[in-house]
Amino acid sequence: MKPIILLCLIPLANSCFVLQPTCDCQVMAITRANIDWWVQWDNTLRPSLENRQLSSPKITRSQCNVTVQCDEGYSLVVFNQQDGKNYENRTIHGTCARGAKSWQVTDGTSSKPEEVDTLYATCVDFRETLLCSPEDSTTFLFAYSNDLNASIFPNMLSQFKNGSAYPTANFATFAHVRFDMRVEEKISYFGDLESWLDSLSSNRPDPNLKFTDPQSGSDILKVIEKFLNNTDYPICGSRIVVLMKRYPTEPEAEKLIEKLRKNHVTVFIEAVGTMLSGSSSETMQTIVTRTNGYSTVADETDQDYQGSYAAGAKFEFTTYEMKISYRYSKAEPEQMRIRVYALINPVNYWVPYDN
Ligand SMILES: *[C@@H]1O[C@H](CO)[C@@H](O)[C@H](O)[C@H]1NC(C)=O
Ligand SMILES: *[C@@H]1O[C@H](CO)[C@@H](O)[C@H](O)[C@H]1NC(C)=O
Ligand SMILES: *[C@@H]1O[C@H](CO)[C@@H](O)[C@H](O)[C@H]1NC(C)=O
Ligand SMILES: *[C@@H]1O[C@H](CO)[C@@H](O)[C@H](O)[C@H]1NC(C)=O
Ligand SMILES: *[C@@H]1O[C@H](CO)[C@@H](O)[C@H](O)[C@H]1NC(C)=O
Repeated sequence: MKPIILLCLIPLANSCFVLQPTCDCQVMAITRANIDWWVQWDNTLRPSLENRQLSSPKITRSQCNVTVQCDEGYSLVVFNQQDGKNYENRTIHGTCARGAKSWQVTDGTSSKPEEVDTLYATCVDFRETLLCSPEDSTTFLFAYSNDLNASIFPNMLSQFKNGSAYPTANFATFAHVRFDMRVEEKISYFGDLESWLDSLSSNRPDPNLKFTDPQSGSDILKVIEKFLNNTDYPICGSRIVVLMKRYPTEPEAEKLIEKLRKNHVTVFIEAVGTMLSGSSSETMQTIVTRTNGYSTVADETDQDYQGSYAAGAKFEFTTYEMKISYRYSKAEPEQMRIRVYALINPVNYWVPYDN
């Protein structure tokens, strides 16, 4: 060790760098986004990962040491060229000897380290099988409050017609339902966009059918539950877009969220104009966030129902910096969440739930 330090005192920077210990051993987080790139198709572990949710392991690297671990419930899987190893719930430590190309790995079960060429690691959820893939055909549900001003409909329908108003997916079924009604309505299902649009345009909000008590909370949670209960049309992977005019009064919706996530249903909401009632937006915001959806706020008066809090941009393959300015006048804290969402060419795997 000493000679290296001494050499560095001589002002020959280059030779100094050459003699620095370098750790060439590789470590990498494998997810659905990069698995095809780094792990061979015929790797013997791959069949067992089909229909499983993968998530990124936590990798802590300091100089020539590395620690790799997964969140609770996930199994740590490390790939070699042809096969690999499942470390289950254990944390692994790797050291890379100077000049070496492979890691010496320990996982606490044996004192003798194993030699591993590359730490290509992923976290696998073996507890549950994915019920569908984002490429399977699924259902689009549009739910809208009967309290909306029907004047937003013409513009909205034309946006549905040209496909700019709903998140893309492989939809085989289109459904719509009007809620916040004195008498609950059934969800209507259609096999094509045209008949769905026809039906939608003849079921505009009707003030004569609204709640008797204007202070009633929204019944949207019941509507979503009803949608999930149906057995005739696919639920898994479906997208729900909700136009809100009042919030529900239920303080939480944990059971519903659990079912939505199990089925990879994404919920998007748009709060149109001033809300009429309901205790708070928090229950709906939690549903949206925890299903990897997003919410927007729209202005009713300009007849434009596009969200004013959503911004579109074409991202290039580079690093971006984001700055948000906001004015917030309430005393109680609220969470702010930021999502980057691809409407065109979305990924073909489920992005893990990280909240
Ligand atoms: C690296 O790991 C080895 C063996 O576990 C340990 O002796 C050493 O202190 C560690 N070095 C650093 C920089 O963490
Ligand atoms: C790992 O799993 C084993 C067996 O399922 C269990 O006994 C052990 O407590 C777990 N360890 C941790 C750190 O969770
Ligand atoms: C879709 O229709 C809306 C409303 O007519 C229009 O503003 C928008 O530019 C259209 N988008 C596309 C992609 O054609
Ligand atoms: C959905 O199904 C569950 C279980 O069968 C039932 O308890 C619940 O009332 C149903 N909800 C709706 C809104 O139909
Ligand atoms: C609905 O919107 C139209 C156009 O913006 C407006 O003239 C009308 O007053 C609104 N109706 C209600 C009940 O708010």
